[in-house]
Amino acid sequence: MFSKRTAWERKINNLAALRGEFGRSGRTLMDLTCSNPAQVGFTHGPEVYASLITPNAACYDPGPLGLPEARAAVAAYYAGRGIRIAPDHIWIGAGTSELYAQILWLLCDPGDTVLVPQPGYPLFSYLAELCGVRLETYNLVYDDQWRIDFDTVEQNREAARKIRALIAVSPGNPTGHCLKYDDIKRMERVCVENGWALIVDEVFSDFVLRRDPEHAGNTAGEPPMLSFLLSGLSKAAALPQIKLSWAVISGPNAMRHEALARAELISDTFLNASTVAQQALPALLKAAPAMQDRIRERCMDNAQFARHATRDTSATVLDVEGGWTLLLKLPATQDDQEWAERFLKQEGVLVQPGYFFDMQAVTPAPHIAVSLITPSDIFRAGLLNILKAV
Ligand SMILES: Cc1ncc(COP(=O)(O)O)c(C=O)c1O
Repeated sequence: MFSKRTAWERKINNLAALRGEFGRSGRTLMDLTCSNPAQVGFTHGPEVYASLITPNAACYDPGPLGLPEARAAVAAYYAGRGIRIAPDHIWIGAGTSELYAQILWLLCDPGDTVLVPQPGYPLFSYLAELCGVRLETYNLVYDDQWRIDFDTVEQNREAARKIRALIAVSPGNPTGHCLKYDDIKRMERVCVENGWALIVDEVFSDFVLRRDPEHAGNTAGEPPMLSFLLSGLSKAAALPQIKLSWAVISGPNAMRHEALARAELISDTFLNASTVAQQALPALLKAAPAMQDRIRERCMDNAQFARHATRDTSATVLDVEGGWTLLLKLPATQDDQEWAERFLKQEGVLVQPGYFFDMQAVTPAPHIAVSLITPSDIFRAGLLNILKAV
């Protein structure tokens, strides 16, 4: 009756089961995993939500790649960061995850492959499966800083699968590393040589926590291959509930035209991006910088506290250049799952074990991930509790 691709293992993991038990016990949970800005105090003033009732809310005149005012608002957002993008090259969607799926349809036939970073964002495997696409990985390796292991990109190339695209996430989730100019040049070269597209997920690009002159900053421009830069309101304006995202399509003219024409048909099939959200986009993006400042400040404050608190302990904070996640390396006396379960049972602190992000594929050491947008009092208390147990 059902498709093979949706025959997922849905058993709830041990940590989720323990969390359920914990909830029933009446003890207070220190949740260091929340990445939903609306649940950790990052809400806008009422005028921002009021802007969702637009004067044109009664109109419906959709454009498959987005309403002109929405595409212009995204172009203006990039212009404010010194990047010139033609509104016509912007594709508006209802969430970055959905745009990923539509881009995979655009680029891949069933059975084709895309390359994703590991450790990485767990959603990729579901997205790929739903789209009938295979995932292969390349490694991010850590030695005081994260870097891309380009040898592992090359190994995929040598395996000669039908690779269609290389996906990069900058700042990375959960690694928090930012692409450097040199990374971009190398990725462009490998994409051009192999006829791959480049997809760069920049949803966290407004949350660079440590500036480095080598940071590429933003990958929009005139790349020598087809490229998709992804971002959206869920992170840029801390408004995941609005479900509005965008892809900037760049590359050689003919390829870009073809990609836009095909994207238009894909989008026209669904017309998922809400008209009301698109009409409100100029006002919502106007409110974004102030929100980004608040979030960056909390992330930097929490990261600084973690670095300070872990000094002279057996836990190590990994370098974080940007994003909302901090990784901690723990002693190898037990694995990451056991650490996470112990923190919850003994200390009432919820963290994500590194295996959620396939950390074990690149390092045998146990790691946990904590959310830097956690309210600072909870972050501090939770971290100190964890350090007591380490
Ligand atoms: C790296 C990355 N990309 C994309 C998304 C999804 O964004 P959206 O809410 O726009 O679908 C997330 C969500 O956490 C993410 O971490």
